[in-house]
Amino acid sequence: MTGLDREGSMQKGTHNKIAVPAKLIKALPKVELHRHLEGAFRLKTLLELARKRNLTEFPLDDEEAFRRIVQMTEHDEPDFLTFLSKFKADWYSTLEDPKRVAYEAVLDAAKENVFYMEMRFSPEHYARKSGFALEAVIEAILEGARRGADEGGVHLAFLVTLGREKLDANAMKRYIKICQKYKERGIAGIDLAGDELNFPPELFGKVFKGLYERTGFYATIHAGEARGAESVATAIRDLDARRIGHGLRTIEDPAAVELARERKIVLEQCLTSNRLTGTVRSIGKHPFPEYYKQGVRVTLNTDDPQIQQSTLNDDYALAAKHFTFGLEDFRRVNIYSLEGSFQPPEAQKALIKKYTAAFDAAIAGAPPTDKYGKPAKNTLHEKTAKRRERA
Ligand code: HPA
Ligand code: ZN
Repeated sequence: MTGLDREGSMQKGTHNKIAVPAKLIKALPKVELHRHLEGAFRLKTLLELARKRNLTEFPLDDEEAFRRIVQMTEHDEPDFLTFLSKFKADWYSTLEDPKRVAYEAVLDAAKENVFYMEMRFSPEHYARKSGFALEAVIEAILEGARRGADEGGVHLAFLVTLGREKLDANAMKRYIKICQKYKERGIAGIDLAGDELNFPPELFGKVFKGLYERTGFYATIHAGEARGAESVATAIRDLDARRIGHGLRTIEDPAAVELARERKIVLEQCLTSNRLTGTVRSIGKHPFPEYYKQGVRVTLNTDDPQIQQSTLNDDYALAAKHFTFGLEDFRRVNIYSLEGSFQPPEAQKALIKKYTAAFDAAIAGAPPTDKYGKPAKNTLHEKTAKRRERA
């Protein structure tokens, strides 16, 4: 009997603390609020793009050596700046390339049974070395990702990431203005990411304070990852953050934890990422369960699955193993995610209703379904992947 069948035979409400098997974790619909497209490229695609451009500064004939340059591997000591150094921007020959990586990244999320995703991307990354116009990059990514979402059956929105070490405040404002043209096509919010260590949040108050009132965009701010709790408190108070990327070190100041709890700030936790950036020594020492116990809205996310060589299912398995997370806990953090999504209230309500039905069906042992209610997602994905391989 499979784990899925075994769990499926249990009554709702009684299974919370029963270990959730890997197969059921995979079958659960999942909400992903924190995934960087630039950290979600397929390795094979990157190598193919590098070969196409004949980027001889990379080991083009040695996939393993190439992998060590663009992923965290067993050769890397966990470290924040080493992790950030894996994001390279050399790959793009034509706009078909960003379109393709976006398409593939959403299909890969579908394969993990991601139900709703806010995929973030950094237009500057694609424009920096290629010379592509920002609008052209944004349009290519929206188009490729949307096709992936339609094929894979994922509810999809976008966040635009602004890199702290890449853009000054005026450039950020220019980016945000461009983003406003793409609201209808799904850009739902703005993210501040990159080197928190050398670029603390207070440098960006002018960009983010009052952002929603000025533009209709909510913000999520990477904070409390490379810096301490004061960084989180500043992001909430002075940058009007509705969500915090990581917020791992909020725990260092009970007042900051209380601020996050009281304002219902969603902490986008990324367990595997935190271990690989050296922000926590081990998952057993992660503050996630303490936040959860105190009623802080913690959520489970990947961050950069390809760089980390992990999936969202792996992070769920870590929560099951180290925090004794059961099905009702998984349900709760996913509802936190949907309530923290940058969608208008009516859309949120509809998503939560649909999510709850999909979650109940999964724990009852039904095969996973996509956003159309069809069970065909993975089969479709595999067929598509095979077709692409043959092409
Ligand atoms: N921190 C900061 N910037 C990032 C990260 C991160 O974990 N991942 C991608 N960009
Ligand atoms: Zn991140």
